[in-house]
Parts: sequence; C-alpha cells; structure tokens
Amino acid sequence: MSGEERYDPVANPYAPGAGTPPPALVGRDETISATEIALRRLRAARTSQHLLITGLRGVGKTVLLAKLAALGEHLGYRVIRIEAVGGDDTLRSLLRQARRIVEAAGGGNSVRRALRSIESVSLTVAGTGASVGRRVTGPDRDALADVLVDVARAAADADLGVMVAIDEAQRLDRHDLRRILAGVHRAGQDGLPLHTVVAGLPNLVGEVARAATYAERLFRVADLGPLSPDQVAEAVTVPAAEIGVTWAPAAVDRVVDRSDGYPFFVQTWAFHTWNAAIDDPISAADVDRASPHAEATLDASFFAARIARIPASEVAYVRALASLGPGPHRSGEVAAAMGKTTPQVAAFRDRLISEGVIYAPRYGWVEFAIPHFDRHVARELPDRP
Ligand SMILES: Nc1ncnc2c1ncn2[C@@H]1O[C@H](COP(=O)(O)OP(=O)(O)O)[C@@H](O)[C@H]1O
Ligand SMILES: [Mg+2]
Repeated sequence: MSGEERYDPVANPYAPGAGTPPPALVGRDETISATEIALRRLRAARTSQHLLITGLRGVGKTVLLAKLAALGEHLGYRVIRIEAVGGDDTLRSLLRQARRIVEAAGGGNSVRRALRSIESVSLTVAGTGASVGRRVTGPDRDALADVLVDVARAAADADLGVMVAIDEAQRLDRHDLRRILAGVHRAGQDGLPLHTVVAGLPNLVGEVARAATYAERLFRVADLGPLSPDQVAEAVTVPAAEIGVTWAPAAVDRVVDRSDGYPFFVQTWAFHTWNAAIDDPISAADVDRASPHAEATLDASFFAARIARIPASEVAYVRALASLGPGPHRSGEVAAAMGKTTPQVAAFRDRLISEGVIYAPRYGWVEFAIPHFDRHVARELPDRP
C-alpha cells in the first residue's frame, strides 16, 4: 500500500463494466435454478419453457446470460451465443457457430441435413463463405427455422443439447426473430433438446409477442429490476469480507441511495469508494469522498457512450424527455415540451428507440432505457445556448 491509499486498488474486487461478471452475483438464484431444471428436463426429453430476460441498461442481463450459458455448457449443451447488432452480422455469427457445432457432431444424416439448411440461409447473407463443392441448395432465409431444428437434431444424435443465447435481442430484425421463434417452437414440438435464452430491453416482450402469436407462451419472463437494499448490501459487503474489509451499515445505505439498486451503479459506487476510502470500516463519508470520481466516470463512459449515439436532430427530443423527470411519460407530453405535435416528433422517437436510448413501456408512452439518464442529460446537455 502506498501514499494515501488505505485499501489496495489492485485488490479492489468490484467490477463496473458491460457484461463484466460481478464478484457476487446477487438476486438471480431463482432464475438460475429454474433454468437448470429446464435444461435437465430437456435432456430427459421433457418439455420446458424458454427464458426471456428483460430490463434497463446496466441491470445485469448480459452477466446473467453468460452465467446461464456456462451452466448450459456444464450440463451438456453446445451454446450458440450472439449479440444482435443490427444488419446481417448477427446472422452470420449464428450460422458460423451452428456450423461449428454440427461439424463437431460427426457425419450422420442429421448432420448433412443441418449443413444444407445452414447453406441455404448462408446464401442470403453476404460474406458467410458458402462453400464451393457442397451440394448447392437455393437461398432461403426462412430456412433459418430449419437451421435451429436441424442443429438441435444433429446435436441430439451426438447426445448433446443446444442452447441459443441472444443478447440485445430487441435489435434483431423482426423477420429473423419470427424465423428463429418458429424454429424454437418446432424443436419443442419435436421433443428436441433446444433451449433459448433471449435478453433485451423491456420492449422485447412486445417484439416477441408481435413476431408470433404463440411466442408469449414459449417463454417465461425474468424482468430484472433494481436490487433490493439487502441485495445491494450483499453485493457490496460479501466480496470485501472475503478479503478482510468491512463496510459500515451507513456506508452501504449510502450506496443503496446513490445507486437506486441498479447493479452497474452499485459496482461503480463500490469500486470508487474502495479506492477513495480512508476509514476502517469503510464509512458513509468515504462514499461521499468517492462521489466526484464515480459521477465523472459515469458521465464519461456509461452515459457518454449513449449520448454519442444520439444524432443532433434527436437531442431536442432527449432534452424534452429529460425535462419531464424520471419515469415513463406520454409521447404527447414530450412533443408538447418541444412545442410540437406527436406526429411531428414520431420519427425522432422511433430512431431513439432503435438506438436503444428510449423504449416504449406501453403504447403511447416513452422512457429512457438507461437509468438516471434524465439527470445526466440535465448535467451534460443543458438547454441550448
Ligand atoms: N446480479 C448482480 N449482482 C451484482 N452486480 C451485478 C449483477 N448483475 C450485473 N452486475 C453488474 O452490473 C453491471 C452491468 O451488468 P450487465 O450484465 O452488463 O448489464 P446489462 O446487460 O443489463 O446492461 C456489471 O458491472 C456487472 O458486474
Ligand atoms: Mg448487456
């Protein structure tokens, strides 16, 4: 330890970041054990529902998805893991991973069939390297449903399951989502060991329901909200206790207060408090000491990354929504705050939704998809000069 530091920054256990596994994954036991049961049932030829994880940014969707993927691997599943990024890159990645699984599964009929389905979809996607020499089938994007069924069958023949884990799924092309769900549905009807976990912003539930009438029943929904005060306490104190460091209850309360229970904020406040702390046990004053660092980091990274994606023409919409304070607001109110009518601003709203900056919690309403974003906007994008 050197200088003013009381706690070694190298040993700092907290993990603020995107998809960075937290030192203590709290509040997810129920979802993890329900998924374990679903995966074991499928392997025993019993049916089970798939999982849809929703929540605002920074609530822990990616981390949970990764945890469940690791669980799947442990239970004999081959995992196809993709992040929907818009455009054909998503599908390209899915096909590449599907092909790898099938090729490793051996050389029976089911394998040949799966390779043919992969081929027909590949032909609709530039740059997947559809192979020369293999029997050519026509390009057919709808064969995406077959890909899932056929890969699951090929895997099953090799005594394996397949898990499809899709992150940022609200960005999937609507038609591709429909095709994927059709495949998931058919695999279930055929008793194949295919388990799907999709994660995304809260409007993903609506997207899934729109993609297919039966889709809602395919999934169980884990809607991740903020952690409870007890869960925040666990996330903060357990990793410290493991290396002999104690947090005073008042310090934990302060983190609860600053973070509102949002996991990314919990990690951020705990991380910066650790580095700034001079008291033992870590005190509420230490949390206050860390404030400038925590806030500056949030402004410069978490929020800035989102602000950077907002085209100049949409900034006024973002300002107007922020001026109404936290929580969902009617589209009409936002338009009024801009001195316009709802139809006049509809295009801005739609673009911000597709950028994942805002979402529609229900018809005619909008809310920031990023917790505390309204405060950040007030700090960083004050009213035009
Ligand atoms: N259950 C949890 N308990 C404690 N910290 C968590 C939990 N889930 C996520 N985190 C932390 O929150 C941050 C955001 O997690 P991430 O999975 O990237 O969120 P999302 O994908 O919803 O935006 C990471 O720093 C991660 O370590
Ligand atoms: Mg994520």
